[in-house]
Amino acid sequence: MPEIPRNPNSIHPVGWSPETQWAGIEAGEKLDFVAIYQEQRERAPVAWRSFEDGQGFWCVFNHADVVRVLDDPATFSSAKPKYGLTLIPIEVDPPDHRKYRQLLSQLINTVRLKRLEDDIRSFVRAELRQLKDGQIDLLTLTAAIPVHSFCQMVSDPNPEGFRTLHFAREATNDPRLARFDEASVAKRVAANQPLADYCTRMIAEHRAAPRDDIVSDILAGVVDGRPISGQEAHSMLSLLYIAGSRTTTAALRGAVVQLLRAPHLLGRLRAEPSLIPAAIEEIVRLESPVHALPRYATTDVEIAGQKIAKGEQVFPNYGAANVDPAVFQNPGEIDLERKPVRHVGFGRGIHMCAGVPLARLQMRVFLEELTTNVSSIVRTGEPITRMTWPHYGATALPARLEW
Ligand code: HEM
Repeated sequence: MPEIPRNPNSIHPVGWSPETQWAGIEAGEKLDFVAIYQEQRERAPVAWRSFEDGQGFWCVFNHADVVRVLDDPATFSSAKPKYGLTLIPIEVDPPDHRKYRQLLSQLINTVRLKRLEDDIRSFVRAELRQLKDGQIDLLTLTAAIPVHSFCQMVSDPNPEGFRTLHFAREATNDPRLARFDEASVAKRVAANQPLADYCTRMIAEHRAAPRDDIVSDILAGVVDGRPISGQEAHSMLSLLYIAGSRTTTAALRGAVVQLLRAPHLLGRLRAEPSLIPAAIEEIVRLESPVHALPRYATTDVEIAGQKIAKGEQVFPNYGAANVDPAVFQNPGEIDLERKPVRHVGFGRGIHMCAGVPLARLQMRVFLEELTTNVSSIVRTGEPITRMTWPHYGATALPARLEW
């Protein structure tokens, strides 16, 4: 582990190296992050993760501390300090956050979701038939559902281009996301260029011919009593894609992983479909598609006895909070009777996931169609591999469906 830089404010800057800790999980070994986070909590509930060049960030592991960070946007800002591009509203602080969030909450409304449900169901059924015929595999199917849903919401009649974009992004997971040196920022901007081009094209097409969809709604949006700017609209649309595609893909894959881990679950959900919403929350809790996202201390502050200096990055670990035994009994197990559900897999506070209804809808339809059409899910042997921290989605799903 690289030497931890001296921070005059630090009391016990115990280091954390996600690469080392996570490598076994990525490789599909039977390492489980419940144990990794617990061990880390015991070493230091707030740990410094350092890069070779002295940059770094704090990682927060306790549920109570993660909640504290998420509930206090004045102390823990979401606005990136040195990064030209701002994603709206996830990188916007109060008071501006609220006006964008209001617009966002009108986009994913119940009428739109109802329309989408029938469409997603037909799509999932067709994809399952293709899977049965051996034309696609589970990885493809689980990525196709969010891609299809997004294309429906932006009225993209040709999902093929977008599908390519999705798989290309999936392949470029960037563990350097917390770095702000010029090279890292340039790399991120370059990686996002195909998506930026896609959003530019979508916006131009919708300006020319408005439709009843989220792009036209964003373009018609009013912020601060003025029409939303092209740049703001572009940023919001980009975020909807970034925040909604890989996460939901990971959650759908997580559902398969959990059905493999607990073979009785499929039968139980088939017998009691009313438990599917509880299963969804447990899958999101235990799989935590996003394990952490950044905040920035706006002042010197202390968390769990660890001093953090103004300006330093702080990563609340949703994944760790979700398996904290102080809050969840048997945290590594799916428990359909768990109450109350206090997981932070969708975040919490003002930045809590704006796409929750859409994510839940996709997961529910997927699970309903699986329980209706599939008799069992069988492991085919090889390891289940994972993405690099802070993501957790499966990258290999060695499983077969039996009909
Ligand atoms: C299972 C799937 C999903 C998971 C696990 C997930 C997780 C999260 C998390 C943890 C946050 C909080 C970020 C923070 O604290 O800074 C968040 C925010 C957000 N998510 Fe999701 N998300 C999912 C699906 C979606 C979908 C389908 C969409 C929309 C298409 C979406 C759109 C957003 C947006 C716009 C935000 C920012 C909200 C704000 O800053 O006010 N997410 N999501």
